[in-house]
Formats: sequence, structure tokens, C-alpha cells
Amino acid sequence: MQRPSIILGIESSCDESAAAVYHEEYGLLGHALHSQVALHADYGGVVPELASRDHIRKLTPLIEQVMADAGQPELTGIAYTRGPGLVGALLVGASIAAGLGMSRSLPVLGVHHMEGHLLSPLLEDDAPDFPFVALLVSGGHTLLVYVEGVGRYRVLGQSLDDAVGEAFDKSAKMLGLGYPGGPALAALATEGNPEAHAFPRPMLRRAGLDFSFSGLKTAVMLAIKAAPDTRAAHADIAASFQQAVVDTLVAKCARALTATGAPALVVAGGVGANTTLRAALAERGSRDGFGLYFPRLDFCTDNAAMIALVGCLRRAEMTPGIAAAEVTARWPLDTLRPPAAVPA
Ligand code: KG4
Ligand code: ZN
Repeated sequence: MQRPSIILGIESSCDESAAAVYHEEYGLLGHALHSQVALHADYGGVVPELASRDHIRKLTPLIEQVMADAGQPELTGIAYTRGPGLVGALLVGASIAAGLGMSRSLPVLGVHHMEGHLLSPLLEDDAPDFPFVALLVSGGHTLLVYVEGVGRYRVLGQSLDDAVGEAFDKSAKMLGLGYPGGPALAALATEGNPEAHAFPRPMLRRAGLDFSFSGLKTAVMLAIKAAPDTRAAHADIAASFQQAVVDTLVAKCARALTATGAPALVVAGGVGANTTLRAALAERGSRDGFGLYFPRLDFCTDNAAMIALVGCLRRAEMTPGIAAAEVTARWPLDTLRPPAAVPA
């Protein structure tokens, strides 16, 4: 009988170092993460060189920690994030994966970070069935994807300019809030009136499923200039901005579900932590009758559990460590194909 697959996952595409161990039958055996938010906060954004150096410091101890948490299992393969992301940061995870692969004679696979996000709800007991529509909303991506199965992805719409998280972060910066500004802006918004400013609902009047947030950002900038410099005025702007984003995302998700006939929506990415967005989608879901799935908060944001999971699903594609250490800064999601069959 074949041994069950046990995959080590390594994530280093941006400002989070993470490791996880996934067991084909028992699921996740351990996961650990180090966030670099504090490291980049003074600069108001991710500094790629600092990110790479910190991944070098943190990844090996994180791997040792998850292996210990998982009870030192006998691994059958290693998956690392091959892209998209910051090249220097990706190379750290790729090199560690290749080194471990060679020294332990284990096969290695570079996986697609966004495929990890798309499939992250499969880490939960209450996992959705295929097909579903996924809304991926992070600091770097705003994507609506039709997911027919593993490796069968159709991008329905994406942002033509800023990602949603980026729009949150830039608006927060204009309001004098710290980095990353999304959670701070959301907190300030609880004190404000979401109807104080009639900000544009980007691209709602246009057909299609693409997004654009640069006009909204400009409207926020003009509102800040015109408003008094008080906390109450800023809270109104934050609440109105957030409401415009949420209305736009909810409307486009509903449109995507109608267009595809998919019965469920999955939301992943850091902005998926936004409670106003969650509440609005839940309300729309019970009205329109679609299922709604959020991975737990830890797996909404960057993590290695999703990378180990994808490695397990694609284990037949793994190659010896020496052939790995490849990274891909830009990697369109719809170039992916279904996983190769695992030999019996
Ligand atoms: O997925 P993520 O952790 O990292 C990547 O970008 O890959 O997403 C981070 C983004 C940041 O832009 C952050 O401001 C935003 O998610 N974010 C939020 C909230 N929590 C995180 N935006 C709005 N409301 C939140 N509660
Ligand atoms: Zn991500």
C-alpha cells in the first residue's frame, strides 16, 4: 500500500514567512507564521530587500517549529510558493525548499500563491463543493474567479488599477492612519456615518465584472481636503469609503454568481477580514440564496497551510529538489491546469 502524502508547505511571497505540514488523510498537522508588518511599518509599505532578509532569518526556525508541532512526521514532499510575488522574497522560500529536497531526497513543487488562496476553504471541515465563485481581495489582488475544480479557473473580473486592500491602505494613509491601514480604517469607520459622503461606486453602472478603485481614491482625497481636520469628519469619510467599496464588491459578486449559475461564493484574502463586507455578503447571500464560505481569519491572509494543501493536491507533479528553486514574479492564474493524476 502506498504511504499517505505528508507535505511541508513554505510561503514567502511578500511580507509573511510561513510553514505548514499537511497530511493527505488527517489534514493540517501544524502551521506557523511570522508577520513582517512591524518591520515595514516605518516605511509605509513593504520594502522588498528587508522582506527577503527577514525571510532568511525566520523561515528555518518556522519549519523546525511546525515539524516539531506535527510530531516530526516523515515527509513525502515539499511545496513552496513559486509566484506571483516579490522575486527576492520568493527565492528565499524556493532555495530553502530545494536545499531541503536535495538533502532529504524529497521531491519539490513550486505552487501558485493565488491557487492557494482559491483553495484555502478546502482546509476547513465545512468545505464548499465545486463549482464556486471566489472573490480574492488582498493588498495585491482583486479577482473574481469561477472555480470549476482544482486547476480549472476562469478569471471573471479583476481590478484595472489598485487592489481593494491597496485602496484601503492608501485611503488610510491620507487619513493619517498607520500601515497597513485597512484594519485601522475599518475601526475608524465604526464611528462614522456611511451615508455622509456619496462616493462613487466604481464601475457599477458598467457591464462586466472588472473593478477600478482609483476614482474612489481621488474622491476620498478631495473629501479630506474639504472637510474639517477632526476625528468625526475623518470617521465619516472612512465609513463612506468603506461602504462604497462594500457595495461595489457585493454587487459584482452577485453579478458573477448569476452569470455563472454557481451556488456558492468563497471569499479569501486580507480584506475578507472586513466585518462590514462579511455582514453585507451574508445579508445578500440569504436574500439571493447563495452559500457563503470564508476560510478562518488565519487562512484568509497569507499562510503556508494553503501552499501545503496545493502541494498535496498536485503531488504527482513534484520533481527532485535539484530541479526546483524556480520563481515566477508574474503568473496568470488561468494558465494553470488540473493536477496530474497520482499513480496508483
Ligand atoms: O491577503 P493579505 O494579508 O496580504 C496580501 O496582500 O497578500 O491582505 C492584506 C490587505 C492589506 O491591504 C490590509 O489593509 C487589508 O488586507 N485588510 C483589511 C482588513 N484587514 C486587512 N482591509 C479592510 N478591512 C480589514 N478589516
Ligand atoms: Zn496572498
